[in-house]
Amino acid sequence: MAERARRAFVCGWPVAHSRSPLIHRYWLAEHDIDGSYDAVAVDPAGFDDFVGGLLEAGWAGGNVTIPHKERAVALAERRDAAAERIGAANTLWFENGRLHAANTDWSGFAANLDQGAPGWREGERAVVLGAGGAARAVIHALQIAGYRHIAIVNRTVERAQALAARFGDGVGVAPLENLGGLLADCDLLVNTTSLGMDGAPGHAFDLDRLGDRTIVTDIVYVPLVTPLLAQAAARGCVTVDGLGMLLHQAVPGFEAWFGVRPQVTDALRALVVADMEKNK
Ligand code: ATR
Repeated sequence: MAERARRAFVCGWPVAHSRSPLIHRYWLAEHDIDGSYDAVAVDPAGFDDFVGGLLEAGWAGGNVTIPHKERAVALAERRDAAAERIGAANTLWFENGRLHAANTDWSGFAANLDQGAPGWREGERAVVLGAGGAARAVIHALQIAGYRHIAIVNRTVERAQALAARFGDGVGVAPLENLGGLLADCDLLVNTTSLGMDGAPGHAFDLDRLGDRTIVTDIVYVPLVTPLLAQAAARGCVTVDGLGMLLHQAVPGFEAWFGVRPQVTDALRALVVADMEKNK
């Protein structure tokens, strides 16, 4: 009997904007796999039932996006160490009928820098702008990469303090007024806030003391060149846009559902960039 086509999803609320179907369908076609990948809108009230019914509905697994990433950790029977530490999961799959959850945002972030700024792992001092869910994945990645001094700068200081307490030694909180001094001695600057995202106001951070040895990356990828990245590039910094994080975080999920480890290529990136241009 022919094996049934394997089906995977991305679920979120809203989810229509997600570019994950484009990415996974590209890989399905590239590897000639009999499978599918669809966006499913699931509201917060329906998430537990959706997850509870996955196996019966025949899903191999899928991606979880905002606002379900925290709940996904709680619902899974097994979770990887990163999902546990970050407190959020973006990838679900079944193994022997058991629901597994993993966080691949952090490894996608790291893989993007490996590609765009080789040598970033040699740094020791990082400044993280923002203290939301994305910041947690970034801080985890920085700790794994060996960053020993991580300063969180956030509008709401309490949120930054909570993250510093969560991640422990080497992670501190700095007030906005200290940003200049921090930037003067910083190997890596990461924006995890939504500032600069399409339609949102740009950042108001003072970059006067940002030197050209600092690598600057933004997890915002619409637009590809955020105001922060544009200013950093003008100051001579190596900059890495956020699109690669999206592409790389997708790799482990595809492998778990469809059994092939796909590659993040220039052709895939160009496809997503073209889609972004089309839907501006
Ligand atoms: P995510 O899970 O995607 O990281 P989030 O939890 O809503 O999203 O976090 C968004 C981040 O952007 C937060 O650090 C937020 O700052 P606050 O903690 O003070 O809310 C930051 N952010 C969003 N809008 C901002 C603005 N206008 N000025 C400064 N920071 C902003």
